[in-house]
Amino acid sequence: MTLVARLVLLQLVEVAEAQDIFCSHSIPLEECLSYLPSEKAAVNRFMNELEHAPMPSSTAFEGTGIVMSGGAPHVLQALANLDVLRHFHKSDLPVEFFHAFELEEAHCKAFAMRGATCRQLQVPGVYPEYETVLPSVMSSSFQHVLWMDTDITPLVAPEVLFQTEAYQRDGAMFWPDHWSHDCWPYGQSAWPTHVVLHLLQLEYNMSEPRFCHEHETGHFLINKEMHWRPICLANYLATRDFFTRVLHGYKDVFRLAFLKLNASNWFSPVRPGIVGAFMKNGFFYPAALVQFWPHAEVLGDGQYLGDVTTRDIPLYVHQKKVPGILWTDFLTFEEPLGRCTSFRLVPVDPATPDVAPWDLERTDPKIAQSLYLIEALWEKSFYANMERLKNDPNLSPESKEVLRAKRDTSITKQWNQVVESCRCDFANNLWFHLLSVLNPELPDGVKRFDTAACKILLSPNFDGVTCPVGFAALAVMCHRFFGVEERGKAKKVIANLLPGLEGCLPKTFWPLKLDQLRRFLDQDQPFTMVFDPEKAQNLTPDVRRCLPLKSLDCWNPRNVLSEDPLRLRDPMSEGGSENSCLFCCTMRDLSEHCFDSYFTKEACCNEVKA
Ligand SMILES: *[C@@H]1O[C@H](CO)[C@@H](O)[C@H](O)[C@H]1NC(C)=O
Ligand SMILES: *[C@@H]1O[C@H](CO)[C@@H](O)[C@H](O)[C@H]1NC(C)=O
Repeated sequence: MTLVARLVLLQLVEVAEAQDIFCSHSIPLEECLSYLPSEKAAVNRFMNELEHAPMPSSTAFEGTGIVMSGGAPHVLQALANLDVLRHFHKSDLPVEFFHAFELEEAHCKAFAMRGATCRQLQVPGVYPEYETVLPSVMSSSFQHVLWMDTDITPLVAPEVLFQTEAYQRDGAMFWPDHWSHDCWPYGQSAWPTHVVLHLLQLEYNMSEPRFCHEHETGHFLINKEMHWRPICLANYLATRDFFTRVLHGYKDVFRLAFLKLNASNWFSPVRPGIVGAFMKNGFFYPAALVQFWPHAEVLGDGQYLGDVTTRDIPLYVHQKKVPGILWTDFLTFEEPLGRCTSFRLVPVDPATPDVAPWDLERTDPKIAQSLYLIEALWEKSFYANMERLKNDPNLSPESKEVLRAKRDTSITKQWNQVVESCRCDFANNLWFHLLSVLNPELPDGVKRFDTAACKILLSPNFDGVTCPVGFAALAVMCHRFFGVEERGKAKKVIANLLPGLEGCLPKTFWPLKLDQLRRFLDQDQPFTMVFDPEKAQNLTPDVRRCLPLKSLDCWNPRNVLSEDPLRLRDPMSEGGSENSCLFCCTMRDLSEHCFDSYFTKEACCNEVKA
């Protein structure tokens, strides 16, 4: 780099810091900023051209239909969802399935049997980041398009959505994702400092959900004649390298394009929930995402799942990719749009304050039954089509090879060990800290225990739900540092947690035994906990990166404990070494936020072979 270029870059960094621009977790800020002048010029030029670009005539597109796209690995899930559409919902909407020279005759014959037409996508030709979506929508013959990712399972016949007042009026319908402006590390495109807002010169409005909450665009409706301009801008954002990198694909390009052009659209006020099943340990396993229609708004006179008068109407499930009957209940979140929930893509503790299980078996057995029937139909279709295609002499061996994604079963086993043997939220560094100081190989281990963490046990409202086994061990540990009165409280904590631990303690890797705890309570017999770090070898890689801790100095054991001992902080909310070891050591893109030149990844995370 020349000296002049370097000086210009330094000025840019200063400007960015002054304006507080966020670019991306994965592109270094300086590199990102170096693209801005040319991206700004390009987008301005595009906007000028767009203003004068000819628009499609009223006969350019025709009718209403579903558009999908994908390659050979997506065919089985797409067929399963089309079977649900045709057989359960009796929907006869025409379907166009686009692919970029990826499908064979045998695939397309299977689609044709479900009234779906294979269409070859020929522009722009290379599609590294879901870039087939916009070209497929634009190239399809339909004027009114329902876009469906191949892993969308409709829970109502989608015809009714086109008939809604909202669609007739606004010509576009979108649904929200989990993530909002106050989430971390996700939700970036809803952050007020995101670089795309800067490039599009959009004035951020924190009270407007279209700004402060991300889209989930696996499923959306659009009137192409009415909204051709925003579609063109969305396509620009979804195909230009810089934007695909800072936006991670097409997910939010509609949101931003519609904002920029002030184009009308309906944005569901109901945030997504999760569909899944309760596990043996009481946690809710999130199988997929479920979206709703707000019960207060009219949705035609179609057939819906369950009673629609009081609850939102379940519309579709997103991201069922593999067989297995897992849809037994919904869990929804009470936070409004624009506020981050506690959900972090891992099993959910139903005792978390903002979550609400629907308890479908009891409160709405009709929905529970329909969900079961839909998933069972999906499963039957998936396996039947797998057999058919596997034995189809006309399908190439390469396509047969990718019919079904392979799954690493050892990961599932290890994961089960973490959750089935006494549940615990390991985003809290305290648990790694506690277990690590109990490692007899660590010099002065117990002396280095952070006794300030004991305070949480003394709070009058303490309940320990985020990690009952950990809080029981903490109480045993703190007992030795406490005075007489506090010792009584530590024992009370153990007594309260013990009934919930009886099932899991025999299987746990925590250094706690039931009879030890009972003797401790009944006969005042303290005991020494010893953690064998070899035991961590059977756990999931994310846990092994932090257990035992490579250095006690790296991770603040109080990362989720705030001043108020009951209010758990977002474990990722603070910079530097206070972040969550579990997240920082596992996620690829967070190095900028989790580490610095002293607390490096090498110094603070165990290396784990995949
Ligand atoms: C911000 O959004 C809210 C909610 O949509 C709206 O009422 C308000 O007028 C907007 N403010 C500005 C400055 O546009
Ligand atoms: C955006 O559109 C709405 C309704 O279509 C209109 O009332 C409003 O004035 C527009 N805002 C701007 C900034 O053009």
